[in-house]
Amino acid sequence: MNRKPIIAANWKMNKTATEAVQFIEKFENLVGGSSLVDIAIAPAFIALSASKELLVNSSTTALAAQNCHFEESGAFTGEISIGMLKDIGVDYVIIGHSERRAIFGENDALINAKAKSLHAAGVNPIFCIGETLEERDGGEIESVLRRQLEDGLKDLDSVNMIQTVIAYEPVWAIGTGRTATPEQAQEAHAFTRSVIREIFGDSVADQIRIQYGGSVKPDNTKELMGQEDVDGALVGGASLDPESFADICKNAAISD
Ligand code: 13P
Repeated sequence: MNRKPIIAANWKMNKTATEAVQFIEKFENLVGGSSLVDIAIAPAFIALSASKELLVNSSTTALAAQNCHFEESGAFTGEISIGMLKDIGVDYVIIGHSERRAIFGENDALINAKAKSLHAAGVNPIFCIGETLEERDGGEIESVLRRQLEDGLKDLDSVNMIQTVIAYEPVWAIGTGRTATPEQAQEAHAFTRSVIREIFGDSVADQIRIQYGGSVKPDNTKELMGQEDVDGALVGGASLDPESFADICKNAAISD
């Protein structure tokens, strides 16, 4: 199955709107309209509008948000609705990131509510899953990933699921410089795809793209992307520099 790789930059709480614009101007020149990979950039909410102005005519790079609320509107001080993001022209929204799970107490039920609202609005979720080191050492990888997938994707429609991107991010590999080996990534991705197959059937399982995230760098991209079930990357630290992120995108394009 030939799945087009998708490389996404998760800038987390980094870069002002001005810095986002400077990055995108440089980055777009560096990647130069390559159509071999899909690319998405997730700046902070306050940089989305300015980023969209630059990306509106980009043939490669889509815009992503790092979070959303599941309700359409209302008394939710400090929150951002999917309608607000759609109005700017956001294509993807990251949900279930381990930092939101661990620091902000998000659970599978809340992430499921966000996934359902995104599907209803026609915006593509980048749905993150991943185990902690303690869970890995305790032999719980498969039970943790299965729970996150079954509960987080509960009651979703398989037609919309094809538009969803799954990001496998082992928590112990995020921001630590400790990347999963290509074999560890492949094993978790193959398991993830098998659970998707059980729930949503062959067509979704064969088409859905599963990104790897956790200390992805230009020099480990090719090896990771060379794994059969690794269809892209969700990149934190190494996406903050335009040259480094462009190199990751180029290396992902030539991994096969
Ligand atoms: P790093 O690439 O900095 O390890 O972050 C990964 C991540 O959390 C992307 O969402």
